[in-house]
Amino acid sequence: MGCHLLRWLSLACAAAASATAGRRVRREVRSLSAAEWGDVVDAMWTMKRLGQAEGEARYGPAFRTYDSFVAQHVVASLNAKCDAAHFSPIFVVWHRAFELQFENALLAVNGNISGAPYWDYRPDADDPGRPGGVFTDKYLGDWVGQGPGFEVTNGRFADWPVAAAADGAQGWRGLYGGLRGPMSMNRSPNATRNGGTMCGVPVGVGNASWWAACLEPDDIRDMHLCIDYEVHGMAHFGVGGGWPRYAHQPPATGNISGNAAPLCASFYGMVGSRGEDRQLGSYVYPINAGCLDCPDCAAEGLDEADCVCACARDDCGCGGVWTGDPAYVETIVAPEYVQVVGDMYDPISSPNDPLFFFHHVNMDRFFMAWQRTHRDAAPHYGFPRAGVKADDVYCAAHLLDGVLGDDSWPIRDALPDQAGPLSPRDVFDRIGEDTAPYEYDTLD
Ligand SMILES: *[C@@H]1O[C@H](CO)[C@@H](O)[C@H](O)[C@H]1NC(C)=O
Ligand SMILES: *[C@@H]1O[C@H](CO)[C@@H](O)[C@H](O)[C@H]1NC(C)=O
Ligand SMILES: *[C@@H]1O[C@H](CO)[C@@H](O)[C@H](O)[C@H]1NC(C)=O
Ligand SMILES: *[C@@H]1O[C@H](CO)[C@@H](O)[C@H](O)[C@H]1NC(C)=O
Repeated sequence: MGCHLLRWLSLACAAAASATAGRRVRREVRSLSAAEWGDVVDAMWTMKRLGQAEGEARYGPAFRTYDSFVAQHVVASLNAKCDAAHFSPIFVVWHRAFELQFENALLAVNGNISGAPYWDYRPDADDPGRPGGVFTDKYLGDWVGQGPGFEVTNGRFADWPVAAAADGAQGWRGLYGGLRGPMSMNRSPNATRNGGTMCGVPVGVGNASWWAACLEPDDIRDMHLCIDYEVHGMAHFGVGGGWPRYAHQPPATGNISGNAAPLCASFYGMVGSRGEDRQLGSYVYPINAGCLDCPDCAAEGLDEADCVCACARDDCGCGGVWTGDPAYVETIVAPEYVQVVGDMYDPISSPNDPLFFFHHVNMDRFFMAWQRTHRDAAPHYGFPRAGVKADDVYCAAHLLDGVLGDDSWPIRDALPDQAGPLSPRDVFDRIGEDTAPYEYDTLD
C-alpha cells in the first residue's frame, strides 16, 4: 500500500519493500505444501471468475483477470509490425515481465503465496503422464483430456473455461469465436490437451540434456535459438498435442512442407526450410502479412472440414513473415493438412492452459540460470540494439531500448515504481538475479 502511494519516490519504496517484506520465493509446484498449492489454485480461479472492476475493488490495483493475461499474450503475438514477444531474444525478456505481472496479480489476491510456482518438466521427460507427475488430480489434471473434445475434466483446473468473448484481444478471436488465436479451429469452451501426440506421431516435453546444452551459448541470440524449439517449445507441443479436425482428414505426417513431423501441420506458418535458423530477427504472423483468409465458422455455418483459413496465394507462399521483408517467401502449410491443437500448443493463445504460467516461470528460471553462467557478458549479454549487427533485422520492439509489448500493449505495471513503459534494458537492469523482487529456491 505504502509503495503504491509512494510510487514516484522509487528509491524509498524499493528500500522499504526489501527491508520489510523480503523477496518472493518461486518454488516447484510439487514442493509446495497442499495448503500452499491450494492458495495458488484458488487465487487463479479468483482471477478467472472475477471481473476487473470487482477484482480491483476487492484486491487493489495489482489485481488482473486471468483472461487479461491471455489477451495480452494474443495481442503481443499478433502485433502487426512483428510478434512482440517471440522469435528473438525478446522472448525471454518479454515473458519475464509478463510472469512478474502475473505474480503481482496472484499475490494481490492472496499475499500468503510465496511466489509464482514453476513446473520443472525434466523429471517428467520420460513419461509426463506418470503418477508422480503434474498431470494428475492433485495438480494439472490429465495429460490427455477426457472430455469429448479433449477437454481436461479433472485436476485442480478441471473444466477451466476459455473466455467466450475475446475481451481485450483488440478484435482477434478464434475461428469459432472466443479468446483463441485467429487460426485456431478449436471449438471447445474449455481448455484442451492431447498430450504426447502431434500429427499422429509421439511428441515429448523436453529433457535435461537439452536444458544443459542450451546453458552453454554465450550470446543471448544463440541461447534463444537453442531453447526456442526444444527447451521451451516441446512442452507446448507435447502438452497441447493435436488431433485431426474431422474424420478422415488426410494424414498430416510426411513431407507436405519440406519439414519433418511434428511441426508438420500445426501452424499455417513457420514451416519453410529456413525458419528461425535464419537468425534474421522478428516474425510477423501470416495473417498479418496478408497471406491467409480466415472465415467466421460459426456465422457462416461451416462444418469442421471447411472451418479453416485459406492461403491468399495459390502457391501458399507468404512474403514478409521474417523481418517483414517481402523478398523472403515462406511456404504456408496447405490448409487441408492443418490439425486442431490443444491449448498449450496454440502459439498465440497458449496461456489458456493454466500450465502455461508454471512452464514459463520455469523458462524464466532457465534464463536466470543462463545469466548466472554468463556473468561475464552482463549486463546485456549481446542483446540486439540498433545497428549492432548489420545482417540482423529486428523490429524496434525487439531492441534493447524498445517498448516491451510495442504500442499495441506496452507493459506498464510490472514494477511498483514504474513510471512509463518497460524496455528490455529495464528488465536487465531491474529484474535480474540480484535485483528482481523474486528469487528461485534453486537454479539447478
Ligand atoms: C494468510 O495466512 C494467515 C495465517 O495463516 C491467515 O490468517 C489468513 O487468512 C491468510 N490469508 C488468506 C488470504 O488466505
Ligand atoms: C466446460 O466447463 C463447464 C464448466 O466450466 C462445464 O459445465 C462443461 O461441461 C464443460 N464442457 C466440456 C465440453 O467439457
Ligand atoms: C533428449 O533429447 C535429445 C534430442 O532429441 C535426444 O537426443 C536425447 O536422447 C534425449 N535425452 C533423453 C535423456 O531423453
Ligand atoms: C521433402 O520436401 C523438400 C522440400 O520440398 C524436398 O526438397 C525433399 O526432396 C523432400 N523429401 C522427400 C523425401 O520427398
